[in-house]
Amino acid sequence: MSAADDAQLESYEGVATIEKVAALARRRGFVYPSSDIYGGLGSSFDYGHYGVLLKQNVKDEWQRSMIQEREDMVALDSAVILNPAVWAASGHVEGFSDPMVDCRTCKLRFRADQLEQSQCGQKPSVAPGEAKQCDLTEPREFHLMFETQIGAVRDDASRAYLRPETAQGIFVNFKNITSSLRVKPPFGVAQIGKSFRNEITPGNFLFRLREFEQMEMEFFVPADEAVQWFEYWVEARHRWYLDLGLRASHLRVRAHQASELSHYSSATSDLEYLFPIGWLELEGIANRGDYDLRAHAAASGTKLEWVGHEERYVPHVIEPAAGVDRASLAFLVDAYDEEVVADRPRTVLRLHPRIAPVKAAVLPLVGNDSALVEPARRLYEELRRTMPVEYDASAAIGKRYRRQDEIGTPWALTVDQQTPEDGTVTLRDRDSLEQERVPVDGVPALLRDRLDARWDPR
Ligand code: GAP
Repeated sequence: MSAADDAQLESYEGVATIEKVAALARRRGFVYPSSDIYGGLGSSFDYGHYGVLLKQNVKDEWQRSMIQEREDMVALDSAVILNPAVWAASGHVEGFSDPMVDCRTCKLRFRADQLEQSQCGQKPSVAPGEAKQCDLTEPREFHLMFETQIGAVRDDASRAYLRPETAQGIFVNFKNITSSLRVKPPFGVAQIGKSFRNEITPGNFLFRLREFEQMEMEFFVPADEAVQWFEYWVEARHRWYLDLGLRASHLRVRAHQASELSHYSSATSDLEYLFPIGWLELEGIANRGDYDLRAHAAASGTKLEWVGHEERYVPHVIEPAAGVDRASLAFLVDAYDEEVVADRPRTVLRLHPRIAPVKAAVLPLVGNDSALVEPARRLYEELRRTMPVEYDASAAIGKRYRRQDEIGTPWALTVDQQTPEDGTVTLRDRDSLEQERVPVDGVPALLRDRLDARWDPR
């Protein structure tokens, strides 16, 4: 299905809510509130076993499409704490802040530019400033970078920052990369890593966190190719989410108005996903021009330009910037479904098989029958050499299927009394619930083929 085939929805239609997805994620070991036994820490989360596997799949797919399958891309893993001069030159020290107002009555803090969409602390709640008890301060700038100190002395000279984006680590390595690797514009540098922002209004589960992971790529091009590469990357990044199963009706490209553009950007388009709480940014693709390389060259005194045989110029930059946690949330929300099967409710995560944390579950029909347990263990041990699989011999088979449905396992392989007789097992499909008998020897190759095949959501 292409984006064009499927008209986008006006508003969310579906059974998922952020609360339901967060509850399932906690119950099934994807994501826990951080520091839980101490009452948690606002908008901070720990990933459990299945969350780690899912998040790793998201990163692997990004890396595969960005680096492995391309000849014009190299990787980087730069430090979280950089020389503070980086953040002065990039404009973050001066400008990375949000205008906030405080209410002296309810003690809540609001983004000054989002008052109309916010709710004050009065009951019934209205927009801040609209109730007669509201007593708002003038807008004040709140800085979003986390500060820390380097070394034993705590003074202005030892102040450093946790990076609020991974991108600057790429720009300040431009000279290292061009002089050590075989690259020539157009080429890109891709990196995945943690970023930190002291968000004033975090929330909505994994959507806005203070500590999160980004997948950013800076694509360096000759100035006269920037517009064409910008369009290329908007299309390529849109296709990536669709290919991994996000429904086209829930994904759109939104070009920024001139008034929304960041100081460095001549064009930005957001890929937006229709969450149950509305259309929200999933990823931003920006044409950053030569702003960053020129700013760092001026501040550091190091020339940051491409030097070819007969040419020398400062490349322009196209940046697709995505969030691992936000993408993971979109995949979870998009996959979440509830239905009634044979008079019993079932919750299922219809995740793309490549995003699903576990690819298959091997289940002996009777958990204490050695005639079934032995071939089941053999199949499980064979499969786990090449993919994440689970063995489960506990509880009734229906309950075991439901558990796998809730963590999004696409296939269940049931070893039953027929297996010792004819060497076949039942393959159950998570989405269609169809069951087919397949030769046990062919299962590893069959699953590998299915993982490589195209997959259409619903
Ligand atoms: N280098 C450009 C940049 O950082 P951004 O739009 O601020 O641009 C890029 O961030 C992506 O990082 C966002 O689209 C989102 O997916 C993710 N992101 C940003 N802030 C986040 C937060 N507080 N929590 C979770 N993800 C966040």
